[in-house]
Amino acid sequence: MPATAPPSPLRKGILLAGGRGTRLHPLTRTVNKHLLPVYDKPLIYYPLTTLMLAGVRDVLVLSDPHGISAMREALGDGRQWGLAISYGAQARPGGIADGLLVAADFVGNDPFSLVLGDNIFYGRGFMTVLTRAAELAADGKAVVFTQLVAEPQRYGVVKLDADQRPVQIVEKPADPPSKHAVTGLYFYDRRAIGFAKTLAPSQRGELEITDLNRLYLERGDLVVTQLGRGMVWFDAGSPQNLLVAADLVQIFQARQRTGIAFPEEVAFRIGLIDRTAFKALVDAMPESEYRTYLAALHEEFATR
Ligand code: DAU
Repeated sequence: MPATAPPSPLRKGILLAGGRGTRLHPLTRTVNKHLLPVYDKPLIYYPLTTLMLAGVRDVLVLSDPHGISAMREALGDGRQWGLAISYGAQARPGGIADGLLVAADFVGNDPFSLVLGDNIFYGRGFMTVLTRAAELAADGKAVVFTQLVAEPQRYGVVKLDADQRPVQIVEKPADPPSKHAVTGLYFYDRRAIGFAKTLAPSQRGELEITDLNRLYLERGDLVVTQLGRGMVWFDAGSPQNLLVAADLVQIFQARQRTGIAFPEEVAFRIGLIDRTAFKALVDAMPESEYRTYLAALHEEFATR
């Protein structure tokens, strides 16, 4: 039988899928970046399933005003996966923290998770890491995840002291204080929206998520979780990363016969939908490799 996830202390999540996607021009002239394929499924499935694994059941998808209808067509109202998905428009790409201001009513007074629509995470034990982060956010902290990278100047960067506590956080520094890049997955307590309202635009004219994280750091409330070697993380916002991410997904799925970021599978495994609902989803799909994988999985579950 599939494992049922324990009740999560955090039910709300924001999936940020706006921005201009200019680094992927001309692909993004007609298609929103987050709907581009990463091997066999749209990019947005990957961060969406990350939120699901974190215990999120109420998802707000934020996109630019033009992107929303396609996004809605791709994901629907979420009921098919045991979720409630709603949509909001970010009038202009004013930065990741600007997205939080658009989400203020949705968040209300609750802790929440935020994931960037072009970030892909995959690895063993990730759900445990996410559950811990959700608990910390419910307990008055902000949590970010870092990974060592070769080119830290392309990301938010955290400097840690000898006890691995954060002492500095900077956005795309020309002279990085460390190689610990901040990934695009964040957990916040109920203070985040209030803090975001106090931010001023950066030099590039955006409300920076790094500036919000700095407010938590200054209060001693920023928890930095280092993702170890066993975790794969991608910011798939460039043509090369999109290709490499697709390759990796194909290799993992073919060799290990495990699906990555199938919302149907995740929903079933964590108990958001039952076997009958899972079967109905599979039956409604046209013949495709995607369907073949899920149909085989259903057979497997049926014989357990
Ligand atoms: O991927 C991790 C990095 O993401 C972090 O290390 C950085 O600290 C953080 O600022 C961010 O940097 P990027 O330069 O990668 O952000 P980018 O502008 O590419 O936007 C990331 C995602 O957020 C992308 O899927 C589009 C979406 N977005 C972005 C902006 C600026 C929005 O939905 N609205 C926006 O206004």
